[in-house]
Amino acid sequence: MENQDYETDILIVGAGIAGLSVAIKLSTRFPEKNITLISKDRPGESNTRYAQGGIATVINAVDDSFEQHIQDTLDAGGGLCRREVVEAVVREAPERLAEVIAWGTDFDRDDAGKLVLGLEGGHSAHRIVHVKDETGFAIVHSLLRKLDGLPNVQVLWRTLAVDLLTENSEEGRVCNGITYVNKLDNHLRIMQASFTVLATGGIGQAYALTTNPSIATGDGIAMAHRAGASIDNMAFVQFHPTLLNVRMDDVAFLISEALRGFGARLVSNNNRRFMFDYDVRGELAPRDIVARAIYLESQNHPIYLDCRHLPSNSLKRQFPKIYQTCLSLGIDITREKIPVTPAAHYLCGGIVTNMKSQTDIKNLYAIGECACTGLHGANRLASNSLIEALVFAHRCYMDISERMSHQKSPLRIVQRKYGSHLPDESQLRNIRQAMKVIMVNSAGIVRSFASMREGLEKLKEFHCQVEEMLEVSTPNWLLYEIRNLLTVGMLILQQALDLNENRGSHHNCDLEENPISLTN
Ligand code: FAD
Ligand code: SIN
Repeated sequence: MENQDYETDILIVGAGIAGLSVAIKLSTRFPEKNITLISKDRPGESNTRYAQGGIATVINAVDDSFEQHIQDTLDAGGGLCRREVVEAVVREAPERLAEVIAWGTDFDRDDAGKLVLGLEGGHSAHRIVHVKDETGFAIVHSLLRKLDGLPNVQVLWRTLAVDLLTENSEEGRVCNGITYVNKLDNHLRIMQASFTVLATGGIGQAYALTTNPSIATGDGIAMAHRAGASIDNMAFVQFHPTLLNVRMDDVAFLISEALRGFGARLVSNNNRRFMFDYDVRGELAPRDIVARAIYLESQNHPIYLDCRHLPSNSLKRQFPKIYQTCLSLGIDITREKIPVTPAAHYLCGGIVTNMKSQTDIKNLYAIGECACTGLHGANRLASNSLIEALVFAHRCYMDISERMSHQKSPLRIVQRKYGSHLPDESQLRNIRQAMKVIMVNSAGIVRSFASMREGLEKLKEFHCQVEEMLEVSTPNWLLYEIRNLLTVGMLILQQALDLNENRGSHHNCDLEENPISLTN
């Protein structure tokens, strides 16, 4: 591969649950085709790896039904979900889960061999399939093992997709692949492909406080936007109510909503349980409501998750990662309250796709968190993301399979534009830090017109500076990521400013006196 450009039949960008599962399916079906999977970090590193709660799927037809899961998803989404998509995801979920099991993920089972079902906010039944509190880790590793045995998939780790290669044709805009850089040498290269699948995940790193790992810089969304694809629902950034509120060096740790499903309580000062002041469902209200309630309560006091009344042996057995991590930081959750704070967690919007995972650029697909399928509307129901990724990875695989006869155009010379100066990385880091704080203050849990306008102006200034640096700089990983973060930040603020009502995770205090939606 050295310095030359490269051709492949199918290019998949991203190795979380979406990218890995579509790669496995395509490779098995088309052993004669070249499939290339690139990912910007080490094997496994992705939002998927950190998923705790699990996968929402209707397994128990006695106490649960597809109709209930559909209704819960629609209710959480604040009236903005696409019903056709919700129906498809909920009904196809059991089949997709069965594939993940067949690929080697051992979900928790009871003594009779039945899947153990957890509960999370907004769900009217127990339906979360999980592997203790490390579901994502177990899934990623079983998919990586499966991928290892597939000879026609070439995987390039620590390789960053920079931009999409597109051109206008009689059929409209077409995607022919990407430009990319490898971490070792920072050469900007071309990878041409008949089909390109973006599976690049979320945007949490745009915020100072996030549950997402460092890979989540919105690259796929920013690349698609620069290429002219439609991007929607960016205002709906979901904040998870319970990030562990303890200072840790450069990492963040989630306290799963499944703990609240197990009976943990949110308390403020004097152990006051406050969630019932806001919603009849208490701690198990949908996330947007719980996050806003904590935001309001935490203006005056720290907020805690209290597990002390729960059976300690079951707590340790079912939530070993949370128990051990907290213990390593000096908190024994069986005896002490856990300090928590809301943090940016999940992007409900993204690259607009249809039921076949197609974007509005030909031969370009988007799946997983970077896609806006219409499933989540204004607020995602807990544990509906991993299953959405599996369902739309399958739909993408089906569509590519039908269109496989499509011939790729010959490799061409593509103009690569960059300069000869080394960019000032300390200046770039300062911009990134400043932007993260701006996003918290202007596009956080509660927003206002003035804060959003001010935030947008500042991001535009940074964006101009970064564009000027790009003109004159040698290819640079950090520069590319920061350009993408600024792009998604501006999209979030621009689209949030356009909203004239509060829905789900978008709350503009200028549109309503009380920044909370009381449902009782
Ligand atoms: P990711 O898993 O994030 O993978 C993205 C991949 O793209 C990575 O491999 C990354 O390296 C690569 N990439 C990104 N940009 C580039 C680029 N420019 N070039 C090359 N590679 C690139 N959802 C649930 O349903 N249930 C849960 O229990 C749950 N718990 C969660 C807990 C945490 C802490 C977090 C952060 C999220 C959780 N979610 C959960 C959400 C869910 O994990 C994610 O939405 C989902 O895993 C996204 O999968 P993905 O494949 O789309 O993206
Ligand atoms: C969690 O375990 O609380 C995260 C679940 C999700 O984001 O769906």
